[in-house]
Amino acid sequence: MAAVRRILIDCDPGLDDAAAILMALGARAVLDLVALTTVAGNVGLAAVTRNASGLLALAGRTDVPLHAGCPRALVGGTLRAQHVHGEGGIGGVDLPVGVSARSEHAVDAIRRIARESGPKGLTLVPIGPLTNIACALVMAPDIADCLSEIVVMGGAARVGGNVTPVAEFNFAADPHAARIVLESGVPVVVMPLDVTRQAVVTEARIDALRTLATPVGETLAAMLAAYRGRTGRAVLHDPCTIAYLLAPDLFRGEGVAATVDTASDVSMGRLVADWNGQTGRDPTVTIMSDLDADGFYDLLVAQIRALS
Ligand code: BDR
Ligand code: CA
Repeated sequence: MAAVRRILIDCDPGLDDAAAILMALGARAVLDLVALTTVAGNVGLAAVTRNASGLLALAGRTDVPLHAGCPRALVGGTLRAQHVHGEGGIGGVDLPVGVSARSEHAVDAIRRIARESGPKGLTLVPIGPLTNIACALVMAPDIADCLSEIVVMGGAARVGGNVTPVAEFNFAADPHAARIVLESGVPVVVMPLDVTRQAVVTEARIDALRTLATPVGETLAAMLAAYRGRTGRAVLHDPCTIAYLLAPDLFRGEGVAATVDTASDVSMGRLVADWNGQTGRDPTVTIMSDLDADGFYDLLVAQIRALS
């Protein structure tokens, strides 16, 4: 039996964040979700924290500590995605009322939990702007040794962006934070749009969740239907991170050195990969490019089934 891996998800739910969080909770036998932290992103901090709390309640996991984090990016203006996720962030779908976030700030919680986890004892899974993770790494550089991996959804490597011609939302929302994380030296696995755009939400895939006939399956199906209705071609970006932790063989990618553009007015937030090794920096970042989409959805449905 696989060892249980301690993970901390830093999120901005968000319809696809919701799918990722529920998927992780369903994989309890192998993923120990030690805390959920929130960051302003798709919608504001209060709303993403309320949504995260509701998702924990839906899954019957109000025991998972919830911590609210940064309300804005390190530098610059605010980017939101209500047009994708709805005003409240989860497509207008009702969630149960959950418990309040703890008083400890998310950045402090990340720092404390990393240290408590010991050498390479914690995996961070950021699926929103990287503000909290960057702050924790800057405040406490020693925690880098406590992180086995950072598995992040963000960036567009060889494809166009979804916010600007070259930038993806999570990196564009806080480019400086994304740069700090990618240059931290901690092993980072990046799920860029190249791979997440392969995880297309279809009617048949929504039906597979609905026919589980469980509160979690039906609620997630309603969220994905709202997501599809709002965007036309919806894809599950954030759950790619959890799928990778459960079944890395579903993905293919390449190790490189990488950073994020924080200076240009035309390509701010762009993921810049050193494909040809020209920077001389160590290749600490693995950028994924391919996904077995059917295998991914089978895995998602199996974890949601486990939450019945
Ligand atoms: C990312 O941006 C957000 O809108 C999604 O939740 C995902 O994390 C995709 O670009
Ligand atoms: Ca997200």
